[in-house]
Amino acid sequence: MRVLNIGSMNLDHVYNVDHIIQPGETQATNGMNIFLGGKGMNQSMALAKAGVEVYHGGMIGGDGHVFLDACDEYGVHSNYIKPIEGKTGHTIIQVDKNAQNSILLYGGANLMLTKEYVDDVLSNFTSDDILLLQNEVNMLPYIIDQAYAKGMTIALNPSPFNDALKECDLTKISIFLLNEIEGGQVTGLTDPEEILAKMQEMYPKAKIVLTLGKDGAIYAEDGKTYHQPIYKVQAVDTTAAGDTFTGYFLAGLVDGMEIPDILKMSAKASSIAVTRPGAVQSIPYKKEVLEALDAE
Ligand code: RIB
Repeated sequence: MRVLNIGSMNLDHVYNVDHIIQPGETQATNGMNIFLGGKGMNQSMALAKAGVEVYHGGMIGGDGHVFLDACDEYGVHSNYIKPIEGKTGHTIIQVDKNAQNSILLYGGANLMLTKEYVDDVLSNFTSDDILLLQNEVNMLPYIIDQAYAKGMTIALNPSPFNDALKECDLTKISIFLLNEIEGGQVTGLTDPEEILAKMQEMYPKAKIVLTLGKDGAIYAEDGKTYHQPIYKVQAVDTTAAGDTFTGYFLAGLVDGMEIPDILKMSAKASSIAVTRPGAVQSIPYKKEVLEALDAE
């Protein structure tokens, strides 16, 4: 089974800071790096590193060829990535001494998708394939409608949550992967159990993964729920922890693994990712994840 991920590619400008900056404050940083990221590309990389055949779609500007090189390096099919004039998406990320981050996002080429482009990419996929989406590209409502009409299974990570998602017909989503804040934004609730119950009521046929930060993750399907605690580690950068979890979770579903095993593998992968700086490059290969699980 193939996964098509139409998603963002961002050049992450990561600054190490003492604390997340306050309004009006000037703060000297302790260092900076430019990493490859974007929720879309991070999730494609996690899928590829977990052994799934993944095709990435989306747009980059003249400064984005590094994403094509990275796709070659890590085994993501890049033939549907379209270079256009203009700037690749980028972020300004602050990572504080506790590994917490804050992210400022400039959409750039990620927001230049057209109906023609979407139709062209989707024409290469069928109802046997999975479409993965996040909310850092434009055209989401159209992409969802067209993919659903083709019978594709659609997985959505509604992140970052904003009004664009309100235009989407979320009843067409088969798999939701979201954190408790996004779950709150979808349902209007705050308690994780209530969020899950409400989402199951709203989308009764969907599989739902709700990540809860230090409290782990809960999976719900057909009224059954499974809880997965986190693996405690010394984090240096939590960027892409959620993307790693998402990619690994979907990879487990594609491989037909049992839910408790998928949850364990995803939690372990993300616990490894947070011990390394950056996004794309912090995501571990499946071999490393399985060895770490065996070593427990
Ligand atoms: O989820 C982490 C990602 O969010 C970063 O790589 C950054 O590009 C933002 O899109």
